Amino acid sequence: MADLLSDEEFDLFRNVIYKECGISFSDTNRSILDSRLHERLRDTGVPTVKDYYNKIISDGEEMKIMLDSITTNLTRFFRNQAHFDTLTNYVIPELVNYKKSRGETTINVWSAGCSTGEEPYTIAMILKEILPPDFSFQITASDISLKSLMVGQKGFYADAKVEGVPADYLTKYFTKVDGGYQVKKDLMDTIRFDYHNLKNDSGLRNLDVVFCRNVLIYFDEPAQRAVVNKFYDDMAKNSFLFIGHSESLFGMNTKFEFLKTDWACLYQKNE
Ligand SMILES: C[S@@+](CC[C@H](N)C(=O)[O-])C[C@H]1O[C@@H](n2cnc3c(N)ncnc32)[C@H](O)[C@@H]1O
Repeated sequence: MADLLSDEEFDLFRNVIYKECGISFSDTNRSILDSRLHERLRDTGVPTVKDYYNKIISDGEEMKIMLDSITTNLTRFFRNQAHFDTLTNYVIPELVNYKKSRGETTINVWSAGCSTGEEPYTIAMILKEILPPDFSFQITASDISLKSLMVGQKGFYADAKVEGVPADYLTKYFTKVDGGYQVKKDLMDTIRFDYHNLKNDSGLRNLDVVFCRNVLIYFDEPAQRAVVNKFYDDMAKNSFLFIGHSESLFGMNTKFEFLKTDWACLYQKNE
């Protein structure tokens, strides 16, 4: 397929995408942007790239659809088991002790960049299993991909998608239906799926655990720092941040403390 975008058009789109959501396109991933925009032009029937640019600038809904189309939504249940071992063996015991000492019994979690929901459902199953009976939790799961959020909200996953779910969890938290598995209502009720662009203030406060894994990788450093600093402000004292195993806050000069546990590394807000 011939390149759709001229150099000037590529700059136009990559600048507006960066400004809108922090995702950074470089010359190496230019072909992805090219092919996704190619599809949008075909689907909308807009004749030229310049016309499509004018459309997204004047039409907020099309801007959202375009941003959705350029995201990468790869995810799976229990992705990076070491993080969930850290949650189970370190983070939750710490939080439960801390909360008990303050007479509190709720754990607030945010799965930021949750894609199609496998990450927040994994967290929800684990919390259901390990939290003491007098504790409750709530999970906010957000993304800029409306298509992905709808999958999470429906809670239906094809057979191949649930391969990483332990058999006993599958029985307990899912119902077998034609072609796949449906998440049971009890588990679904613990998660609130919400459209949110990490460029903006989330409005969430007092978060005890934030998962933002395999999202920052698409941002450049200033955009990463801006997001991470917002997390810091949204989080409670003595709270924990998980980022992807190939991501790091090293050299970013944030207020988070690096924490190495027996299972995986993560970050803590101490003050
Ligand atoms: C590769 S998925 C990661 C999903 C999950 N966290 C995991 O690790 O399996 C990255 C997600 O980040 C979302 N994303 C990218 N930029 C975003 C932004 N500015 N605001 C919110 N979500 C964003 C994408 O739509 C995509 O669903």
